[in-house]
Amino acid sequence: MNGVTVVDHPLVQHKLTIMRDKETSTASFRRLLREISLLLCYEVTRELDLTTRTIETPLMTMEAPTLEGKKLVFASVLRAGNGLLDGMLDLVPAARVAHIGLYRDHDTLEAVEYFFKAPGDLEDRLVIVVDPMLATANSAIAAVDKLKQRGATNVRFLCLLAAPEGIERFTSAHPDVPVFTASIDEKLNEKGYIVPGLGDAGDRMYGTK
Ligand code: PRP
Ligand code: URA
Repeated sequence: MNGVTVVDHPLVQHKLTIMRDKETSTASFRRLLREISLLLCYEVTRELDLTTRTIETPLMTMEAPTLEGKKLVFASVLRAGNGLLDGMLDLVPAARVAHIGLYRDHDTLEAVEYFFKAPGDLEDRLVIVVDPMLATANSAIAAVDKLKQRGATNVRFLCLLAAPEGIERFTSAHPDVPVFTASIDEKLNEKGYIVPGLGDAGDRMYGTK
């Protein structure tokens, strides 16, 4: 699929299988999500631009590679996005963070916004939106709409699971935003859940069901 990268690294797939298992505890689910997020972060940042700077090693002067441009922004779609965010910040501790509060209305499946806070200079930064689930894509589209309204022009979307229907809708709404996911599952069920899926990501992370 154009603009979609499936991260099929064996460690990602192994951990994802444990997360899908309904017998996996809340504590293990959270730990696995954090571990997987390190591996996904590695992929989503693979093509960051590099420049060089002059450093002195103990032996000589060299022009050494370093990331170009302003610090990244990780934009977490609350609540479940925070499960990916924590691991990504372990890998890129200097990243800036945006929080986008959205929940899915259970009946309409529309995304309802309740919070937004982001760095003021989004136009100068790569923004990586993180949310474990891309189901109908209502939440992802709303999150990226909002970031673009606030100036973001260089955006990527990172999730753990995606439904084919969600990918279709998201890439139509935001064709300029590459999607990274660990799996494209079979479909959405009649309640808008990804199947086979892993259930409600927020509830499984925080033990709220
Ligand atoms: C989940 C998930 C996404 C959204 C995906 O959040 O984390 O944000 O659903 O569904 P969609 O693609 O159909 O919009 P939820 O609304 O359950 O909120 P939560 O993270 O607070 O549990
Ligand atoms: N949100 C979730 O947490 N899980 C799904 O399967 C769909 C939306």
